[in-house]
Amino acid sequence: MKLNALEFQLMNNPLRRLVQEYYEMRRFLAMDASVEAGKVLEIGCGSGNGTRLIRKYLRPERIDAIDLDARMIEIARRNNVNASISFSVMDATKLEFQNDSFDAVFDFGMIHHVPNWRDCVNEVCRVLRPGGVFMAEELSAESFRNLPGRLGKALLDHPYEEMFSREQFMEQLMVSGFTILKAVDANPLGLFKHFALEARKNNKAPRRIHARKGTTNR
Ligand SMILES: C[S@@+](CC[C@H](N)C(=O)[O-])C[C@H]1O[C@@H](n2cnc3c(N)ncnc32)[C@H](O)[C@@H]1O
Repeated sequence: MKLNALEFQLMNNPLRRLVQEYYEMRRFLAMDASVEAGKVLEIGCGSGNGTRLIRKYLRPERIDAIDLDARMIEIARRNNVNASISFSVMDATKLEFQNDSFDAVFDFGMIHHVPNWRDCVNEVCRVLRPGGVFMAEELSAESFRNLPGRLGKALLDHPYEEMFSREQFMEQLMVSGFTILKAVDANPLGLFKHFALEARKNNKAPRRIHARKGTTNR
């Protein structure tokens, strides 16, 4: 689901960019600085800052970055003018890419915004090549149960009824066809239950029917 006005501002400001670079991206790099990043997909790219960081630190051959919100894609395109990057408005539960298209997929805090998040994990697995890597950092449902979390719940729109726990997310990764290589937990400022992980697509991951419309493979 798209962000409400408050979270849209929270995701589009210099503080967010600093947190993403010096906390979230650093955690990914510490887990696997050697992601073999030929073709990379970023799901829920928002303003495109994560896309910029993937390019800055990993220098992949190509990045496709998608977001459900056309306003975000417009901002991301303005912020990242580079021939190796392509931004598209797309739903991460219905990725318009062929099976086995990418070496790595990145998720910076996006899947907890998706009501049918299991479909999203399945889609990530489908578009990754066998042995490809999924780097995800997420908030879990527990984040919204303490006092600050309940305040956040009143102010921010998320699919709270469907939101996953850390354990449910890990289980779904395995059901979808991943092996979890590394996972780290954090509780920044005592506010959120946050986790970051690196998972590899199994060689024998279940084969899934590819994109329902306008399939692309660039
Ligand atoms: C919390 S923001 C994170 C944005 C960016 N990754 C960042 O870290 O700054 C979540 C993003 O996911 C996008 N989003 C939500 N549901 C989506 C879906 N089903 N498919 C693609 N993008 C989605 C929203 O539009 C929003 O830009």
